[in-house]
Amino acid sequence: MNDPRKSSGQLIAASILSADFAKLGAEIEEVRAGGADFLHIDVMDGHFVPNISLGPPVIESIRPVTDMFFDAHLMISEPLRYAPAIVKAGAQSVTFQVETVDDPAQAAREIRKLGCGVAITLNPATAVEKVFPALDFVDFVLVMSVVPGFGGQKFMPQVLPKVRELKKRLRPEQRIEMDGGIHADTIAQARDAGVDWFVVGSGIFDQPDRAGAIAELRRKITS
Ligand code: DX5
Ligand code: ZN
Repeated sequence: MNDPRKSSGQLIAASILSADFAKLGAEIEEVRAGGADFLHIDVMDGHFVPNISLGPPVIESIRPVTDMFFDAHLMISEPLRYAPAIVKAGAQSVTFQVETVDDPAQAAREIRKLGCGVAITLNPATAVEKVFPALDFVDFVLVMSVVPGFGGQKFMPQVLPKVRELKKRLRPEQRIEMDGGIHADTIAQARDAGVDWFVVGSGIFDQPDRAGAIAELRRKITS
């Protein structure tokens, strides 16, 4: 398994929210072979966000079909209640929304005890300072560049200053991930702001040629 935390490069995560769930195993293999670096798995509860996606049973089903790293993004009101099941199902990393916990530092420490990677994320409307207390305890920070809940939304460049604020405070081995609206025509803005890992859903899965889409995204990052 390629652990993104051990890479210092810029990486592309395929977000399976936009995949065809009727053939999820084949979809995952296609993006792996097409060059995606790891998988981003959106867990939604219909409460923190107005959508329901998938949970531990689906993660458990796809765990044996691939050796890709699973980055679980919990868009749920009770991350501490469900994180153990998410890790048991096969996720290597758990990201919780800062808006859902009283004490972000304590929440990060609790999740770390499960033996997985830990990250914190924040909605576009949430001030970046809210995540500062947890920064010592996370592997990466996910900056949401859309209001979470749905794939295929428009990139919000107004969140980019958060990346610069976070960069100043993170240790060299900590990473910044961005999620939402990242396509071939928006990814360079995220790169210029200092993003390390790019989560892409519709920009990969809604394209007829997934490998071609990933290659194009990588070209945009490196050009
Ligand atoms: C949105 C999810 C994203 C979603 C991104 O709430 O957290 O991971 O899959 O989809 P795109 O890349 O289509 O904006
Ligand atoms: Zn996500």
